[in-house]
Amino acid sequence: MSEQKKPLIDEEGLRTDGRKIDEFRPITITLGYLRHADGSVLYQQGKCKIIAAVFGPSEVHPKHIELPDRAILRVRYHMAPFSVEERKSPAPSRREIELSMVIRNSLEPVIMTELFPRTVIDIFIEVLQADGGTRVAGLTAATLALADAGIPMRGLVAGCATGKVEGKVVVDLNDIEDKEGEADMPVAYIPTLNKISLLQMDGIMTRDEFKEALSMGINSCMKIYQMQVSALKSKYGQVEAQAKEEE
Ligand code: CDP
Repeated sequence: MSEQKKPLIDEEGLRTDGRKIDEFRPITITLGYLRHADGSVLYQQGKCKIIAAVFGPSEVHPKHIELPDRAILRVRYHMAPFSVEERKSPAPSRREIELSMVIRNSLEPVIMTELFPRTVIDIFIEVLQADGGTRVAGLTAATLALADAGIPMRGLVAGCATGKVEGKVVVDLNDIEDKEGEADMPVAYIPTLNKISLLQMDGIMTRDEFKEALSMGINSCMKIYQMQVSALKSKYGQVEAQAKEEE
């Protein structure tokens, strides 16, 4: 007798990890996680564990690639060989090269690169453990590491995926939902500019489903944005209080 496959959404409307369709995974933000980077974070979203680290603005090597009017933004998204079920080669794959570019393009609208001509800002995103939605989690983490490094920005970028699983629009797909679901749609939003900075889709949705997914995605991004703000306030609020005490 063939084994019955477990549904991705059960009769009570709950997903494989017990979440409701509009619920994203628990998020923890640990700012300043690394000692030697100018800014860093350990970002956990459910089983996804991602480190983002920022260096700079610093001198450009080789010099001829520097830009006279702004800083260069260099992004490396990388998955550790042990981050996925099947060992991944440590060499950068085409997917990682593409995601590095997608994340750089999504960060560009907020970073005030014009304040640092002839320099480079390096952003490293290291996925330690992947469980779906790493590009948007990596982007959210990179934004936090940039803020932690004190890089001036026009706002924060918050990302969250949405998609379609067993005919229902859901938020923040995990790995199995990403692989077995009908569609995956990563969204990133900049609340201060009221702009979407990343929107991709893999799969098929109707026009109405797309609208629902987009509004669900923006909604989740807003909530994640509030978590970013409160994590930054709680770290830098303490720093400010300490500085005042020392005065
Ligand atoms: O992670 P994200 O959803 O942004 O990108 P994806 O290319 O749609 O990958 C979805 C998921 O597939 C990842 O989060 C991993 O859990 C998994 N994956 C994998 O198992 N092995 C890889 N080499 C790449 C991705």
